[in-house]
Amino acid sequence: MNEITIRRPDDWHLHFRDDAMMRAVVPYTARQFARAIVMPNLTPPVTTAAMAAAYRERILAAVPEGIDFTPLMTCYLTDNTDADDLARGFADGVFTAAKLYPAGATTNSDSGVTDVAKIMGVLERMAEAGMPLCVHGEVTSADIDVFDREAVFIDRVLAPLVGRLPELKVIFEHITTAEAVQFVDGAGDNIGATITPQHLHINRNAILVGGIRPHAYCLPVAKRETHRLALRKAATSGSARYFLGTDSAPHTREAKENACGCAGIFNAPYAIESYVTVFDEEGALGHFEGFASENGPRFYGLPLNEGTVTLRKAPVAVPEAFDAAGASVVPFHAGETLGWSLV
Ligand code: NCD
Ligand code: ZN
Repeated sequence: MNEITIRRPDDWHLHFRDDAMMRAVVPYTARQFARAIVMPNLTPPVTTAAMAAAYRERILAAVPEGIDFTPLMTCYLTDNTDADDLARGFADGVFTAAKLYPAGATTNSDSGVTDVAKIMGVLERMAEAGMPLCVHGEVTSADIDVFDREAVFIDRVLAPLVGRLPELKVIFEHITTAEAVQFVDGAGDNIGATITPQHLHINRNAILVGGIRPHAYCLPVAKRETHRLALRKAATSGSARYFLGTDSAPHTREAKENACGCAGIFNAPYAIESYVTVFDEEGALGHFEGFASENGPRFYGLPLNEGTVTLRKAPVAVPEAFDAAGASVVPFHAGETLGWSLV
């Protein structure tokens, strides 16, 4: 197959940032996706419906003329989240989901939740309302190896939470391990997972072999090859539990190429091309539309998009860097040629 046409896809996990960086990166996503679940880890974080409504306006103002793109907003949960504001924001259509960052797990997560027990009342309200919970699934204890943090999170936090609130819709985001795939496969229909392009393409060697390569570093960190293979199998399996979520997370070159480089990979410019390459390599182009355009909205209970996009087997060269807000941002696949292009 040299060309496929699919229903317009969505990105179910994305960082736009704010201000000049946001204005620079929004067009890359809007070029490919009809909707995106926008992460709330700004400084300060998006913790109220009023903040989310204002942020949504700023994003919409950055969408290029003539492009129809809908940002879907999330609430950054803290130990002090106001359950009434959250429920009202969801009922009013401001919030699509809420985001659980274990405090200290990743970029701008310092105000995150210190113990899930502290927000059990909020989570019960969400379960009643049918409001989905997006989860960054890593424990943060200093004694847990960074490569084990996702697997330990399943045992210590996620499995008990799902047992306690069996109705809650949970998206286990940007999964990186065979353990996560096993958990999702064995869970109920209220558990979904997103998978990023980088975790389908690279394993941890890409970060550490031949020198430290900061542009391949994100959280959860890429794991060993067996895990990458498990993720490719899950994503391309046709299971409705798995859907597209890029976790595109722009940081300036200076912030990445640093003695303490930030976590996050900027993959927005060629995300759909990156994903379809994987499905082609796995002989699973027939499952691409489900992963990119159907499984996500069905899980969230949202309508499927109208319209289509076409991808063609034709090379596209990914630039070494993009200019954003007067700074340089290095994308995923920088300097590589991908085999598929968005027509
Ligand atoms: C994200 C960011 O930079 O905001 N970084 C990342 O490595 N993925 C935060 C996140 O989703 O963990
Ligand atoms: Zn993210």
